[in-house]
Amino acid sequence: MDNSLHIKLAKEFGTPLYIINENKIRRACRKFKDAMYKNYGKDSQVLYASKALSCIKLYKIINSENMELDVVSGGELYTALKSGFPMEKIHFHGNNKSLEELIMAIDLGVGRIVVDNEEELEKITNLRKQCNILIRVRPGIDVTTHSAIKTGTIDSKFGFSFEESEEVVKKVIKNDKINFKGFHCHIGSQIFDSKSFEKSAEIMMDFIGKIFLKLGVKTDELNLGGGFGVKYTKNDPEPNINEFIFYSSEKIKQKSIELNIKQPFVYIEPGRGIVAQAGVTLYTVGSIKKTKNETYVIVDGSMADNPRFTLYRADHEVINISEDEFDCSNKKNTIKERVTIAGKCCESGDIIAKNVEMRIPQIGDILKVRCTGAYNFSMASNYNKLCRPAMILINDKKAQIIVKRQTYDDLISSEL
Ligand code: LLP
Repeated sequence: MDNSLHIKLAKEFGTPLYIINENKIRRACRKFKDAMYKNYGKDSQVLYASKALSCIKLYKIINSENMELDVVSGGELYTALKSGFPMEKIHFHGNNKSLEELIMAIDLGVGRIVVDNEEELEKITNLRKQCNILIRVRPGIDVTTHSAIKTGTIDSKFGFSFEESEEVVKKVIKNDKINFKGFHCHIGSQIFDSKSFEKSAEIMMDFIGKIFLKLGVKTDELNLGGGFGVKYTKNDPEPNINEFIFYSSEKIKQKSIELNIKQPFVYIEPGRGIVAQAGVTLYTVGSIKKTKNETYVIVDGSMADNPRFTLYRADHEVINISEDEFDCSNKKNTIKERVTIAGKCCESGDIIAKNVEMRIPQIGDILKVRCTGAYNFSMASNYNKLCRPAMILINDKKAQIIVKRQTYDDLISSEL
């Protein structure tokens, strides 16, 4: 059913084309919200980490699901503003927020500024404007994932060490404009081991206990970050959202009793867990090339619209939906081969997927790359002056274009 709709959309809107499914997004939102409610009750909230996919329409969906938002730049904040997102429900992240970004965020009344470093704290202090802050901590946890997406190690570029965080708390509690709310940590992305989340909850609670004991300062809120693993291919495990949250919530409850402190309000901030599986990308096959050791199926997209293989050797499943649609019996008889799906950029590393088993497609066939809802559109570039694809949102009732395909004029619009 999906395939015939996707073929229709490819014909109508052209390729490459991003398609996201609203029902799947809403289902994912509810899974996280239900799991949080089940384990923490009402003293919890889910923020959508919008670096995974940031656009006005999606922010409206997130808002209508009563979730909050994590933004990481003035650009994401501006997009949220334009979508009508309530500013007090936004957490503003970033490890080098500019003065302009901080002024914008504080003047708009964002809910929390997640302070990452000394220089940022100084800028906020000098502004002498009322704001609520969380302090970002590096909990010193090494997780099993690609090194580029680990964020909680002792050498991470994000946040303060525990010793530094203690000094920050001492400073901010003396400041009558800065309202200290609590701490934030994020250990990395695409994590499947619930024990890693449990460990970070434990370490953070011990720290919260220490801050209370040493400084007498209460921590009202704890943001445990995102990073919940997503099943991209059949080789990935099926994630259990409830289990991810259960272990850390148990640890937080246990630690609150042990340390005799009030359990903080807990936030999590999944990004890919909300949107990855809701998205697919469609491409048209333009060329097939056999070399001594490779068979390249070359499509009209590239690392410019999906840089994940190039950056992380990330796997995505690819299927030929024209083949299914126009069931040609002669095709069915041909044997499947291992092919490399390559893009059209002038660069050998421009690969969308490797070791894909498929029958050699026909020129003009439509390929569907699965699980591209996260970190595709949001990480797209104009490399080789390629225009960014359009994005279509589908739900039970209709398919609507929510991001226009860029034009050549868009490409030069900021050039003087
Ligand atoms: N919170 C913070 C502070 C983060 O830095 C991130 C991701 C998240 C939440 C959401 O993580 P998620 O639930 O989406 O895993 N481009 C890479 C992922 C980079 C993640 C950066 N931070 C990729 O395509 O895999």
